[in-house]
Amino acid sequence: NICLLFSWATIVLLSLTRIPGRYLTHQEGLPKLPVPPLNQTCDRYLAVLEPIIESEELNQTRTLVEEFQRPGGVGERLQQGLERRAHKAENWLSDWWLQMAYLDYRMPVVIHSSPGVVLPRLEFSDRQGQIRYAAKLIAGVLDFKTMIDNETLPVEYLGGRPLCMSQYYRVLSSCRIPGIKSDSVVNYASNKTPPRHITVVHNFQFYVLDVYNSDCTPLTVDQLYVQLEKICNSSLQTNKEPVGILTSNHRNSWGKAYANLIRDKTNKESVRAIQKSIFTVCLDAPMPRASDDMYRTRAAVQMLHGGGSRWNSGNRWFDKTLQFIVGEDGACGLIYEHAPAEGPPIVALIDHVVEYTKKSDIVRTPMAPLPMPQKLCFNISPELKKDIEEAKQNMNIMVQDLDMKVHVFSYFGKNIPKSYKLSPDAFIQVALQLAYYRMYQHCCATYESASLRMFRLGRTDTIRSASVDSATFVRAMDDQSIQNSEKVALLEKAVKAHRAYTDMAIRGQAIDRHLLGLKLQAIEDLSALPDIFMDTSYAVANHYNLSTSQVPAKTDCVMCFGPVVPDGYGVCYNPMEEHINFAISAFNSCADTSATRLAHALEDALLDMKALLEQTPKAKL
Ligand code: COA
Repeated sequence: NICLLFSWATIVLLSLTRIPGRYLTHQEGLPKLPVPPLNQTCDRYLAVLEPIIESEELNQTRTLVEEFQRPGGVGERLQQGLERRAHKAENWLSDWWLQMAYLDYRMPVVIHSSPGVVLPRLEFSDRQGQIRYAAKLIAGVLDFKTMIDNETLPVEYLGGRPLCMSQYYRVLSSCRIPGIKSDSVVNYASNKTPPRHITVVHNFQFYVLDVYNSDCTPLTVDQLYVQLEKICNSSLQTNKEPVGILTSNHRNSWGKAYANLIRDKTNKESVRAIQKSIFTVCLDAPMPRASDDMYRTRAAVQMLHGGGSRWNSGNRWFDKTLQFIVGEDGACGLIYEHAPAEGPPIVALIDHVVEYTKKSDIVRTPMAPLPMPQKLCFNISPELKKDIEEAKQNMNIMVQDLDMKVHVFSYFGKNIPKSYKLSPDAFIQVALQLAYYRMYQHCCATYESASLRMFRLGRTDTIRSASVDSATFVRAMDDQSIQNSEKVALLEKAVKAHRAYTDMAIRGQAIDRHLLGLKLQAIEDLSALPDIFMDTSYAVANHYNLSTSQVPAKTDCVMCFGPVVPDGYGVCYNPMEEHINFAISAFNSCADTSATRLAHALEDALLDMKALLEQTPKAKL
């Protein structure tokens, strides 16, 4: 395809020209995240509670909100504090958010925080194929890294506005570090001597692989292949201590074990090498075979947790920001530590790498022999051995508890909602509301991530998908007494309300981060927490039974993550033009949830909504 070749050639040429200062200039041109008006947030807060809170309780909350926003009251004082903070800081929210949402969060990063990505199954089923693909993948990531290093990464846009690109500069050469009460993140990319190595893990054994030649050119695919082969041949024993599984533990336990681990000098150096590495490649052992239709579900759990201590869970360093996973059986994907970035930059990197791996093999050139990659050694004391055993047990409990279903909805994709002049994302979110309502006969607090990257250092806010309009539609949908034409009108109204909420959120006017900011301001001021934050409605509103996210990619992949509450679902989706990939998770320990049941209900909801539009010809424009 001439066009593709041309655009590829353009990318290659552009990426090789270094444009120093371009990134900073771009960043400085971005607006600062606003602090929304207090009354606007208070009014909108009451509106989002309506579909999820009983009326009596809501009346009580109304009184509390009125008191909170009273002129001269506590709300105004906190708002002023927040505005002062916004004036001084580059982004009033981002440091707080990083700390609160990630670094202070003490649940294991596995399942509870780190998303996985499942790529389509690759066509190999042996060690040679695995190494060949891994070599291409590494070369592809290094190619992407050239654009980051040279500041030539194309700026992204949302709704016609340029986006903050800082997350791209945080995902390579970085790692989370555990602490006893709170974690931190280190990034070595901007060091005077930035790292030149990646780490490779095979049969639980870690290696340092230098990926640049002495003339600073990246190793070729052939060179990488030879190096990976050496690593595999020297790590054939399968009885090694899975020291990496420590990173899957509860953060406080891991924080303690970490202090213990790095007391030993050799261990400390090995851990530093992993933390400093550009990224990690996990060469996984084959997992139990799955039928073709179960493949993506099985691969999703492999990416999210590795399958348990018997399988590949020890073949990871879960604190590492980026870990690419290549299985001997053709399973391929990644897991990333969430603190530095959201899904979209990660899948943009994947899209680039997948395109790169499709390029035909480069002609072999004679190669000078390269040194053997260095194996990272660990001294395992009896105490560490105990920590590893405990981490294995906890991991296996988590593995047993995760109920995962990857569902490819194959009847339509973005095309159908678009043909009815409806936002595809909003259409899918309304279908999720319908599916949930049909299963539980009530609406629940629903989280959809909205990008705040229009603003400097922006992360996310929440689109609350359960709205007065979605609730009216889902109640009407199965009501025989209501005419189809009315149902169509309600459907359109719900979809448009969702899109309007999205527009408000991406422009920095949603309510959730603002409310959080007011709460954190009260804590920072050492004043009593206002009653609205102690109220049951606030707890219910933040108990997200549906935690959802759209992560679109050009590649036919899907991102996946766990639920955020014990009785909830995690739903991530990649809407393609003619199909939609969904990854749905729940916990087996909750008798009321089932990922498979929600997948079926969602499929029915999408089909029923399409049928409803079709039955009412005037709907199509
Ligand atoms: N009629 C016809 N087409 C429409 C339409 C309408 N009324 N509304 C939207 N579309 C089109 C859009 O132009 C777009 O076209 P494209 O496929 O050519 O790009 C497409 O439909 C998709 O638009 P939509 O479904 O409305 O969603 P979006 O792309 O605007 O995304 C969010 C919405 C909320 C997902 C996005 O704003 C966002 O914030 N993304 C980041 C989420 C995130 O960070 N997730 C990761 C968390 S780890």
